[in-house]
Amino acid sequence: MSTEYLLAIESTCDETAAALIDSHGCVLSECVATQELLHEKFSGVVPEIAARAHLERILPVLDTALKESGIPPDALSAIAVATFPGLPGSLIVGLSAAKALALAWNKPLVGINHIQAHIYACGLGATESIYPCVGFIVSGGHTSLYRCEEPLGWDYLGGTIDDAAGEAFDKVAVMLGLPFPGGPALSKLAAKGDRQAIRFPRPLLDDKERLDFSFSGLKTAVRYRIAGPSDPSHRAAVLDEQERANIAAGFEQAVIDCLIAKALAAIKKTRAKRLCVGGGVAANTSFREQLAVACQARNVELIIAKPQWCTDNAAMGALAWEKIRRGQFDPLDLDVQPGLVRPKR
Ligand code: KG4
Ligand code: ZN
Repeated sequence: MSTEYLLAIESTCDETAAALIDSHGCVLSECVATQELLHEKFSGVVPEIAARAHLERILPVLDTALKESGIPPDALSAIAVATFPGLPGSLIVGLSAAKALALAWNKPLVGINHIQAHIYACGLGATESIYPCVGFIVSGGHTSLYRCEEPLGWDYLGGTIDDAAGEAFDKVAVMLGLPFPGGPALSKLAAKGDRQAIRFPRPLLDDKERLDFSFSGLKTAVRYRIAGPSDPSHRAAVLDEQERANIAAGFEQAVIDCLIAKALAAIKKTRAKRLCVGGGVAANTSFREQLAVACQARNVELIIAKPQWCTDNAAMGALAWEKIRRGQFDPLDLDVQPGLVRPKR
């Protein structure tokens, strides 16, 4: 089989990314521009700022990825772009760039689902297919479980009814006076704490049949534990260092327990043999380690995306090859679809 090449673009939230991927799934180059410094003072992603930053970064990012790959535009088979779900303004920048290149270079356009791409990222670089599996996406915007028969076919099993796990990490990090994005910083602080010292609630854990998550009550429990004045980050500054670390550790463990319990329940319900986990929170070391132990004990094969492909990136746009192989191209009037339409259970 001769080798073909694909240019993939990602701009669903606050990372501007491009990657060149060949038809064997090999990532030839990738470039990711993050916007953390722009959003830090707001302790969260500001959609308008994100969209403008994408606009500034998209061309240099595309240029870098193309140059590093050494692949000329002529040799490309298609231009792929994540069109849903995500922030509307952010999605529009990536899609507009993809359309412009598709038109200028006379290449087909392929829109992809960002969540399916996060799951697909688990198989990047592997020789065997990761399907069928239970796909678990744990990020700043999503915490959902799917039964995935194949890369483009899935059934929704359950998900968060309020905050996503990463969002809870980010908000609790603010309460503890940690920098944005909160996940990595909170996890580092948690490593110095005692996981058993404070037992925070594990919402919905009693309901074994239900594959949903809820993190807003847990977040409130942390808020009450800190029990500070209106700006909790000020109160955190006067907390004893060990107490701060114990709160971080107790919170992180509560989230991990919920994530693992529901993932295992999904495996049991679907009788799947394989669990594939992607999204920013899947970069969390304790979560990775504890999930590995839990899966091993149940004889479940666990595949977690490599850390650099857990957070948003364009390499996972390799999913587009699955559409290209099925002849599923999109017209140039393709539009973004910001909200994920939740598939019926
Ligand atoms: O997948 P991602 O880059 O963007 C979305 O699609 O949402 O995930 C970003 C989220 C943020 O909430 C961030 O705090 C969280 O992933 N995150 C982590 C870690 N690294 C990133 N959460 C916990 N522990 C980490 N090590
Ligand atoms: Zn994502």
